[in-house]
Amino acid sequence: MANFCLRQDNVHLGLMQNDALKALKELPPNTFDVAVTSPPYFWVRDYGFDAQIGHEDTVDNYVKRLADIFDEVKRVLCDEGVFYLNIGDTYYSGNGQPHGSDPACSSRNFMRTKLRPVDQSGWDIPQKSLIGIPWKVAFELQRRNWTLRSDIIWERDNALSEPSARDRPHRSYEHIFMFSKSRFYSFDRSKLGDQEDVWRFPIERVKLIDHNAPFPTALVERCIETGSPPFGKVLDPFVGSGTTVNVARALKRHCVGIDAHPSYIKQIRQNLMDLGCKPFGWPNMIQSLAAPSPNFKQWIGNLKNMKKPKGKKN
Ligand SMILES: C[S@@+](CC[C@H](N)C(=O)[O-])C[C@H]1O[C@@H](n2cnc3c(N)ncnc32)[C@H](O)[C@@H]1O
Repeated sequence: MANFCLRQDNVHLGLMQNDALKALKELPPNTFDVAVTSPPYFWVRDYGFDAQIGHEDTVDNYVKRLADIFDEVKRVLCDEGVFYLNIGDTYYSGNGQPHGSDPACSSRNFMRTKLRPVDQSGWDIPQKSLIGIPWKVAFELQRRNWTLRSDIIWERDNALSEPSARDRPHRSYEHIFMFSKSRFYSFDRSKLGDQEDVWRFPIERVKLIDHNAPFPTALVERCIETGSPPFGKVLDPFVGSGTTVNVARALKRHCVGIDAHPSYIKQIRQNLMDLGCKPFGWPNMIQSLAAPSPNFKQWIGNLKNMKKPKGKKN
């Protein structure tokens, strides 16, 4: 477990190698302008460590574990903040055998040998059903008082085909749910460009580190720019290959990225140093998070939005 801070051009980039729930508890409340993340999906990949999210015995336990983490995201998000959650679905196979998968994708190959809960019989839905996990998570977050503002469809126009799926369309989109902490929040619509709730971004096959599920850079740019001013504060509790931290650096936002996998954090840190970032003590990160975002008041995302009517609490 370790926290690092790096600095470049007055931008502070924090990396926390820890379980997401534990790391978030170390961060101060009401801090970040925008959170953007993609957690591991339910039994889709193997990140190779015991406490990984996505390998729970039931869907309910997966949903609860994520929602508990996102309660902490809500605590550290400022009242005007938004949260973008990218999440994909899983099929219930129920045929009592490990599910064959794409041999070209090493992190999915565990499915060829391991009997996952979704391969076991006895669920209360028919075999071969899409489970509907993204909406189960969204409804649980709504129940926990997040405001669900948009179900953005990320259309992956170069998605891999699914050779084993011969009796249904291949999947080419994922959900990006946009939540706000309160009804009155900050948002720069001009950064949507000419796309509304269908975002078309190809999957990026060029990888910064050895990681199999990176976000496209342009997708993260849109989330960060709609949700924060320059020198604002960005959070990603499952930072993986470091896309969110790298984009935040390029867009001049402070950022904290969390991942439990030591070698991902190590490689992200090395990449940032190769780009000229210098090590800086972790207390400096906490200090810069405590300072108000200098451009927030004049930021269009703040000025152009519905203001909280006087006397309203949320
Ligand atoms: C889908 S990947 C994120 C990819 C990221 N969006 C990117 O652009 O590279 C999910 C990440 O969650 C991490 N992870 C899994 N369980 C975790 C946990 N309990 N706490 C923190 N990170 C965890 C994995 O190591 C993996 O890197």
